[in-house]
Amino acid sequence: MSSVVVVGAQWGDEAKAKVVDLLSAEADVVVRSQGGNNAGHTVVVGNDKFILHLIPCGVLRPHVVSVIASGVVVDPKYFLEELGTLRSRGLAITPETLLLSERAHLIMPYHRLLDTLSEGKKTGVKLGTTGRGIGPCYADKAARSGIRVVDLLDEETLRSRLEAALPEKNILLEKLYGHRALSADEIAAEYLGYASELRPFVRDTQKFLSRAFDEKKRVLFESAQGTLLDIDHGTYPFVTSSNAAVYGACAGSGTSPRRIDKVVGVLKAYTTRVGAGPFPTELSDSLGERLRENGQEFGATTGRPRRCGWLDAVACRYVARLNGFTSLAITKIDVLTGLEKVRVCTAYRAGARTLDEFPSDLRTLESAEPVYEELDGWRESLGGIRSFAKLPAAARKYVRRIEEIMSAPVEILSVGPGRDETLWIGRGKR
Ligand code: GDP
Ligand code: IMO
Ligand code: MG
Repeated sequence: MSSVVVVGAQWGDEAKAKVVDLLSAEADVVVRSQGGNNAGHTVVVGNDKFILHLIPCGVLRPHVVSVIASGVVVDPKYFLEELGTLRSRGLAITPETLLLSERAHLIMPYHRLLDTLSEGKKTGVKLGTTGRGIGPCYADKAARSGIRVVDLLDEETLRSRLEAALPEKNILLEKLYGHRALSADEIAAEYLGYASELRPFVRDTQKFLSRAFDEKKRVLFESAQGTLLDIDHGTYPFVTSSNAAVYGACAGSGTSPRRIDKVVGVLKAYTTRVGAGPFPTELSDSLGERLRENGQEFGATTGRPRRCGWLDAVACRYVARLNGFTSLAITKIDVLTGLEKVRVCTAYRAGARTLDEFPSDLRTLESAEPVYEELDGWRESLGGIRSFAKLPAAARKYVRRIEEIMSAPVEILSVGPGRDETLWIGRGKR
């Protein structure tokens, strides 16, 4: 393995973390480049289950250096909490094995407040965000009023950045939301407390990564969210505020696209979405409920039930084109066991029109009626199967159909949450 970007091919929760964890066995560095603690990445190691939100899954492998790069938005309070939790579970995480970019933007208390208050207001679009302050933090970054990790390390800079940003936030908090104003002194005191704990982890991660590439280290990028939540190419405005598709890995870490060798698309064998927004193949009936139960589709970050539906080839083809996947990891195919028929949406009907392209306008997408192709289901439990040839013929056919839709070969097939519940296809296990 050389350098690999692992990307979510739907609306998040495709089991990217399981795939990153598998591939990290042969990686030297694991990098998070975008998003923040809105992610919920579950890794099952034997009888232990880890849910990581901000810290890369690489920390589960003692030989790996994990990097939180500059494109990530970092809540310092949360960073220290997660670090503490992971350490209390026996992981020896040190400033040598976990690096935090000095250029990463900080999630401030007013970002969290504005996120939840704006979601709670009576009018306007409700996105169903995770309430972690992600959107307001990226908004400040783009507006050039953000505060970065490096700013936190210098008291004078922190105070002056805070004093420049806070008056506008307080007008919003007080006048728009009827919330009390925040004090710059109180925030500064709280954040300066975090600064001393954070400082040992802070590095120029761009320089570190560039050197790692020069030294032929194997670098693995752990994307958060999924391509359909990408700020530029997702189902806007029902998206997150960063680039969840492949290019987010480059922009968010300061890595040239020329350094990337492989792009692995992680695709759940059906579709889920948490939060609001269009979802043409959503099943609002007992079948949707069955997928939710069988797949335990409840948010790893917020605990919300995930909306479930069939695989959407219209969306998948669009996502495949955006990312240029070199291979696929198909996950949770075991969840489909026991269904008489399995459906794949191949086109949308929108009024009198039939669409085979993913539309950019929300109204068309919201009213799109899926046109389905039906494939045979299978009854056999897949959890114990370790070779493609031993899969039921109908499951093999379903996998081959997905390869066709995505124009990429399947390399990993996941039949359960555990590390060993995995089929490596087309090559020996690495
Ligand atoms: P991520 O955000 O993309 O990393 O995915 P999540 O961790 O939010 O959600 C994936 C869930 O599915 C986790 O609870 C995993 O333990 C679980 N999981 C992963 N792979 C499989 C699989 O092949 N089958 C089943 N049944 N569960 C899986
Ligand atoms: P992982 O990495 C699924 C969704 C939220 C909401 C929208 C915007 O675990 O796949 P935000 O808090 O980011 O401003 O919320 O994006 N969302 C996710 N959905 N998986 C995630 O991460 C998500 N991160 C954000 O539910 O609809
Ligand atoms: Mg998740």
